[in-house]
Amino acid sequence: METSRSNSQDILAGKAPKRSPLLLRSTVVLFTLFCGLYMFSICIKQTRFSSASKLLNIRVIHDQPCNTSVFEEKELPYLHFPKPTTFRRKECACNPVRYFVILSMQRSGSGWFETLLNSHMNISSNGEIFGNKDRRSNASTVVKVLDQVYNLDWFSSASKNECSAAVGLKWMLNQGAMVNHKEVVEYFNRRGVSVIFLFRRNLLRRMISMHANAYDKNVKLLNGTHKSHVHSPKEAQILAQYKPKINTTDLVSNLMEVQGTARRGLELFKSTRHIVLYYEDVVSNRTKLVDVLEFLKVPYRDLTSRQVKIHSGPLSQHISNWEDVKKALNGTSFESYLKEDYRL
Ligand SMILES: *[C@@H]1O[C@H](CO)[C@@H](O)[C@H](O)[C@H]1NC(C)=O
Ligand SMILES: *[C@@H]1O[C@H](CO)[C@@H](O)[C@H](O)[C@H]1NC(C)=O
Ligand SMILES: *[C@@H]1O[C@H](CO)[C@@H](O)[C@H](O)[C@H]1NC(C)=O
Ligand SMILES: *[C@@H]1O[C@H](CO)[C@@H](O)[C@H](O)[C@H]1NC(C)=O
Ligand SMILES: *[C@@H]1O[C@H](CO)[C@@H](O)[C@H](O)[C@H]1NC(C)=O
Ligand SMILES: *[C@@H]1O[C@H](CO)[C@@H](O)[C@H](O)[C@H]1NC(C)=O
Ligand SMILES: *[C@@H]1O[C@H](CO)[C@@H](O)[C@H](O)[C@H]1NC(C)=O
Repeated sequence: METSRSNSQDILAGKAPKRSPLLLRSTVVLFTLFCGLYMFSICIKQTRFSSASKLLNIRVIHDQPCNTSVFEEKELPYLHFPKPTTFRRKECACNPVRYFVILSMQRSGSGWFETLLNSHMNISSNGEIFGNKDRRSNASTVVKVLDQVYNLDWFSSASKNECSAAVGLKWMLNQGAMVNHKEVVEYFNRRGVSVIFLFRRNLLRRMISMHANAYDKNVKLLNGTHKSHVHSPKEAQILAQYKPKINTTDLVSNLMEVQGTARRGLELFKSTRHIVLYYEDVVSNRTKLVDVLEFLKVPYRDLTSRQVKIHSGPLSQHISNWEDVKKALNGTSFESYLKEDYRL
């Protein structure tokens, strides 16, 4: 008995080494199969994800945890729930954020306008980001910067907190906005970016401001510092002492060129959600700012700015060859620029 048991044990023990290659082989086969299936599923997931993120906009993916049923259907393309990588939105994570851009031209009041917007606790307008040439070297660098701004990950003195309800920047038309218009318009429409056009009606006044600003860049009238914007009437008065002489030979063609740029900008971006503002209108009628707050759908608040207008009073005071300029514009479509004056 003992022998037979030990025999059978021997047999079993002896069979074991014969069986184990089979067991090992099937384990390897199963393992390989499992690995293959796993890799396959990962691939499927990735292709599905990348095609989804191409088709849908990123907002939809980010939206999911927030309940959007309280918002109107037509609002949804303009509502975003960004998930910044640099901080957490905490209790405001499900407060919608609207994206905007101020499209403007140099010396058209956009600096002042932006300080007004930034005086609102829920608005963050991050300045002239594309003033830096590297950021606008091509459409992909532009898009990368915009993504960062709209994801609330752009850091500037105007960056707000987790409860920002509108985030944007100011962008001069000649700083890559028009050059890359195809990609930019597509981006604005895909991501629901609202455009605030800010132009100046009186382009002759704009020209004076351009000249004075260029002059001060070299001369630095305020104790050796160049200032494009000032905060006191005294500083404004010092900067306004410089009276440029306008070249009347190409005055009309220069004005036409600036007017053309503004018109082209409006035309290129007309398919976006937008409003058009004029600096002069905002100066003389602060109710225009209510339109802006309604456009951005942020709560109503009084907006304030510490900036003081540099060239106030009649235009004739700010041009050294006023008579020549008057003659050059007489009878042209720009004649009205001579008469429009501020009483500010
Ligand atoms: C979303 O909010 C609405 C209205 O407050 C509510 O009726 C609905 O149940 C909510 N849905 C989810 C998924 O929480
Ligand atoms: C865009 O510009 C960046 C930086 O100048 C450069 O690295 C990149 O290769 C450019 N991309 C294209 C598509 O030209
Ligand atoms: C505006 O900001 C305040 C304070 O951070 C916050 O309590 C409020 O919810 C924000 N409003 C909106 C509309 O996001
Ligand atoms: C220039 O500096 C002087 C002395 O520091 C100061 O009194 C004056 O107010 C400054 N002027 C301006 C325009 O900042
Ligand atoms: C005025 O503009 C014309 C045309 O651009 C130019 O030829 C001329 O040199 C300019 N005059 C002065 C004084 O800059
Ligand atoms: C001021 O602006 C508001 C808002 O756009 C407008 O309704 C109103 O007519 C304007 N007032 C004047 C005097 O132009
Ligand atoms: C403008 O031109 C007209 C005729 O061409 C002339 O009578 C008038 O005095 C001019 N006005 C000015 C302000 O030079």
